Amino acid sequence: MSTHRPIPWNTPPGEPPLVLAPMEGVTDLTFRRLVRGVGGCSMTVTEFVAGAALAGGHRIAMRAVAFDPDEHPIAIQVFGRDPDLLAEGARTAVELGADVVDLNMGCPSKKVCAHSGGSALMKEPELARRIVAAIRRVVTVPFTVKMRSGWDAEHRNAPEIARMCQEEGADGLTVHWRTRTDGYGGVRDLSTIGRVVERVTVPVLANGDVDETNAVTTLAETGATGLMIGRGAIQDPWVFHRVRRALRGQPPLVIDDADRERVLLDYYRVVRATFESDRGALGRMKKIARYFQDVPELRQRILHSETPEEAEERVRDFFAARRLSQADPGASPRPDRSPAPAPR
Ligand SMILES: Cc1cc2nc3c(=O)[nH]c(=O)nc-3n(C[C@H](O)[C@H](O)[C@H](O)COP(=O)(O)O)c2cc1C
Repeated sequence: MSTHRPIPWNTPPGEPPLVLAPMEGVTDLTFRRLVRGVGGCSMTVTEFVAGAALAGGHRIAMRAVAFDPDEHPIAIQVFGRDPDLLAEGARTAVELGADVVDLNMGCPSKKVCAHSGGSALMKEPELARRIVAAIRRVVTVPFTVKMRSGWDAEHRNAPEIARMCQEEGADGLTVHWRTRTDGYGGVRDLSTIGRVVERVTVPVLANGDVDETNAVTTLAETGATGLMIGRGAIQDPWVFHRVRRALRGQPPLVIDDADRERVLLDYYRVVRATFESDRGALGRMKKIARYFQDVPELRQRILHSETPEEAEERVRDFFAARRLSQADPGASPRPDRSPAPAPR
């Protein structure tokens, strides 16, 4: 039995870590700056990057794993199917300064699974074992594995895979309660995460639709060490504070519109300064806006913008209209029906 390295989450003593999930096309440097600016998150994770591309120093891969000098702790996530290439990629991640290397065993995308990476590895436990062992051999920092609860309802084998990962030296695990065939649907079922927790001694993060309304029960039902949050942070970057307060039994956080508007426009500024083309910047603004589920009007306004300037203008208009209707509810129709929506 190997000795497991502690994961250096930045979390108040005795309190569970709350980690930002890796999200390809979302959690790049710009988005992670937004989340870090709002605060409350115990660790950030890069978007996934192919181990081979990272090892080869490919430009897009290097951009995907770029992080700020003060962005610690940070995990770099790798995916792939070739143990040697993945090990090389993991070694590069450590050389770049990652505090944690994370292996993706959960991605449901056809592109990744077609090459037996991501969640397809859960169907090939022996290959998965070789990959975990190969990475562990070269990585000097804590090494974690992120997975779904299984391939489909009949094959919820995360407990066996998790146990194998621990035997091969993984220092921590994240388990999304959905199976690969659930996609982003499925009926919430935390039992597999609970079974993983029973099978291993390393820390487990529970993942999947976590927010302040279910954080307490998710930890209680699974016995997980902490929580990982993805789309909730796109919808509301204050989610880590909200969840922390819920776990402490504190009253809910109230964020006013001025803060929401400022944070969203600050984000846009960083996106525009970072992306080489207006097209790229607008694409990223729209990608984020797709997750603004609770503010459909703002979402639609951004999705129909044709330039980054127009998207910014529409954000300003949205909040201005809202200020007006809040000052005088009879003056103009309220642009959105939800009581206190966040910038989604
Ligand atoms: C746009 C998007 C991109 C994602 N990219 C990754 C990824 O690169 N690596 C990964 O392990 N999971 C990825 N995921 C899955 C998330 O990390 C997370 O497991 C999933 O969204 C469930 O958590 P949530 O309900 O809090 O969003 C992605 C999810 C989304 C929505």
